[in-house]
Amino acid sequence: MNAKIGIVYSTVDGQTLKICNKLREVLQQNNQEVDLISIDDFNEDITKYDKLVLGASIRYGVHNNKVIEFIKTNKTALGSIKTAFFSVNLVARKPEKNTPETNPYVVKFFKTIDWKPTLVKVFAGKLDYKKYSFFDRKMIQLIMWMTKGPTNTDAKIEYTNWEKVNEFGQELIKL
Ligand SMILES: Cc1cc2nc3c(=O)[nH]c(=O)nc-3n(C[C@H](O)[C@H](O)[C@H](O)COP(=O)(O)O)c2cc1C
Repeated sequence: MNAKIGIVYSTVDGQTLKICNKLREVLQQNNQEVDLISIDDFNEDITKYDKLVLGASIRYGVHNNKVIEFIKTNKTALGSIKTAFFSVNLVARKPEKNTPETNPYVVKFFKTIDWKPTLVKVFAGKLDYKKYSFFDRKMIQLIMWMTKGPTNTDAKIEYTNWEKVNEFGQELIKL
């Protein structure tokens, strides 16, 4: 049976959107109907979807505040359909920190909100020093140094595991 799936995303540098685009591709290839919408523009009744996916990246330890607002605003509706949440961050490049149970941001996030999505995932994001402002570059360098990652400011590395994104799509179809 074909389901109508809404994907709502919060991105700053575009990696979460790239993951959502891949997800949409996987879902559409499997004959699912998909709407992909930025959290900035979303103003729908989410119960028009059979399944809703919410994806957001981490900046300085937290997801965009709009994510929390979205969950609060749609609390009742979120409980009435199948839902999935995924977080994108660089700590998730480490295998021991890339599951919902081991990624510190995701663990903390679900301690602070009253929502249990049907499915939760974590994806490693992208490091691209050249894109960052001076301040952000220095901060990310510090974070990378502390977590034994690349500190060379030429570094541009996409850590996202696309096969894992594909598997996420397959799981969504089965929900
Ligand atoms: C200013 C800034 C702060 C960030 N802070 C964190 C952080 O605290 N922890 C982390 O794991 N990744 C952090 N990241 C990495 C992002 O989560 C990663 O680059 C991700 O791919 C961004 O996704 P987006 O392009 O969808 O916003 C940060 C990136 C930037 C640019």
